[in-house]
Amino acid sequence: MSRHLADYYSRSVSITRALDCFVFDRSGKKYLDCIAGWCVGTVGWGNAEVRDAIVQEAAEGRYVPPLFRFEKQEEFATLLCRLAPHKKLIRAFRCTSGSEAVEFAIKCARATTRKSNIVSIDGVYHGHTYGAAAVGEACGRNSAMAPCPPGFLKLPLPHPLHGPSEDAVIEEFAKLVQSTADIAAFMSEPVWTNAGAIVPSSSFYPRIERICRKNNILFIMDEVATGFGHCGTLFASELWGLQPDILCLGKGISGGYGTIAATLVTESVFRKSRSIPSYSTFGWVPLDMAAARANIEIIVREKLWKNASDVGAYFLEQLRAAFLSHPCVGDIRGIGLVLGIEIVKNKKKNTPDKIRAFLIQRACEKRGLLLETIDGVLFLTPPLIFSRAHADEAVSILKKVLR
Ligand SMILES: Cc1ncc(COP(=O)(O)O)c(C=O)c1O
Repeated sequence: MSRHLADYYSRSVSITRALDCFVFDRSGKKYLDCIAGWCVGTVGWGNAEVRDAIVQEAAEGRYVPPLFRFEKQEEFATLLCRLAPHKKLIRAFRCTSGSEAVEFAIKCARATTRKSNIVSIDGVYHGHTYGAAAVGEACGRNSAMAPCPPGFLKLPLPHPLHGPSEDAVIEEFAKLVQSTADIAAFMSEPVWTNAGAIVPSSSFYPRIERICRKNNILFIMDEVATGFGHCGTLFASELWGLQPDILCLGKGISGGYGTIAATLVTESVFRKSRSIPSYSTFGWVPLDMAAARANIEIIVREKLWKNASDVGAYFLEQLRAAFLSHPCVGDIRGIGLVLGIEIVKNKKKNTPDKIRAFLIQRACEKRGLLLETIDGVLFLTPPLIFSRAHADEAVSILKKVLR
């Protein structure tokens, strides 16, 4: 590995090629890709339709700065707003990454309300830039990037094994709202992907949203990871009938074929946010947009979120049948193709076993299965085209490893 790449985290697998749900390393070894870039992969790798769209756009060789009108950007914004989980999201900001989409959400929330604080849920990842890291878990008190920007308040994450309960968290939010007038917005993920594939109950977010509405607090959903199908609906907000004032999109918007993201807002948020800096030089470059458009067209045409729902339910069932009684497995959970297996030291106490989870991850890799670990949870987010046969293959490798 080159010592010039500012990198401290890479695994030893050096990926050279990818096709459908598989990636290949330098030696030609094949891996079933159950990471897919943490919810990036959608239509699968090496998709010919997306490639043709990119090649066609590349032949035009153009770049249009945000100073000018560009019909393709206007059409793309219309497409995103048409697909959005509710009709009031009618303006799209042009972003390059999920972190930037979250930054836009913070800026818009403050500009709209002229209030400061953003309330979020502890332990949830929202990106690496200062604002996104502060709303998320990447800029904690002891972080090397401290001091973190002010104006971010945290609620604890409701956790199925370790608590607190959803009721306790909602109560804490209600109390916070009563004691602090200066709250601009609540922001979180509809399903907590990076925090370990945790799915809230169907009443959690509707209750949070109600508190927001009552108290003039904007309700923001970060669907950078969950957007475009991974939770079995096009957007996970649809699962609970949520109507966010601001929606952050990234990852699955291009399925990994382009560097593109978006922040969707209501007209009233847009009108009050006009003065925020919004010029993003590479926001919605034609090449990225061509990739994203082709990717979205396939997702919508093939209703790939339905495949994520069907195959995800089957995968979850197979995982539960095979491993729920295993002495080191505390919980198996998820929705659609966002799945987590919590590895514990002791089933009674459910203490997370981060080292064992990491060893399982490494052993899976040796046997040709790529998955992630987060704080002792094996985390699986394969592409939306994942099949039952792929699920069987993953379960079979896990069986050999966990035996
Ligand atoms: C929920 C969520 N929000 C924001 C981000 C940041 O996206 P990006 O890495 O494209 O900046 C991520 C990335 O993992 C994410 O999962």
